[in-house]
Amino acid sequence: MNLNEAITGRRSVREYTAQVVDESAIVRLIDAAVHAPNAVNQQPWTFTVVRDQSVLDRISRGAKSHMLATMAGNPHADHFRARLSDPNFQIFYHAPVLVLISAIAEGPWIVEDCALAAENLMLAAYATGLGTCWIGFAQGFLNTPGGKDMLGLPAACVPVAPIIVGHPKAAPPPVPRNAPKIRWVG
Ligand SMILES: Cc1cc2nc3c(=O)[nH]c(=O)nc-3n(C[C@H](O)[C@H](O)[C@H](O)COP(=O)(O)O)c2cc1C
Repeated sequence: MNLNEAITGRRSVREYTAQVVDESAIVRLIDAAVHAPNAVNQQPWTFTVVRDQSVLDRISRGAKSHMLATMAGNPHADHFRARLSDPNFQIFYHAPVLVLISAIAEGPWIVEDCALAAENLMLAAYATGLGTCWIGFAQGFLNTPGGKDMLGLPAACVPVAPIIVGHPKAAPPPVPRNAPKIRWVG
């Protein structure tokens, strides 16, 4: 797939089939992720692949409670509250796989590094017919001791990008973008 097609065609996917994602396909996505630019080539990332739905259900429940308890001041709080209070809402949309990109090294740019890896992973997935979605709802909880415990992550680990992966049920419709605000200096 041409790069521009991948950049403009990728969409966040929130409905997946039950089809298993091959382990080799997941490894190929992680290979794409580690080619991302990263500060001083420190490659601070580690990839946690979760396929156990009972673990994802548990994280989803913990993340919803955590969000509801901590989101005061979030400008989208009202919009999120009804969703997060719904016991039937699973924040991972029952996707068959979660790839959590976390930083296991210290440094001023570890979050940027992991986010760039995440974008590579999402574009590579789209190019092979897989769907992805970054699940920000999970981030706060996964950064708590309780969240880290659920995945056996060391205390010093910084979870950055929880990305669900699966076979899309259907192609999501286009999501419009605003015209960019460009300031030319000189
Ligand atoms: C940091 C970040 C957090 C996000 N968190 C969520 C989330 O928790 N749940 C969700 O359904 N989508 C989430 N998304 C997906 C965005 O809603 C989506 O990227 C945006 O609406 C644009 O749509 P597109 O990805 O299809 O272009 C997140 C995206 C990013 C980059």
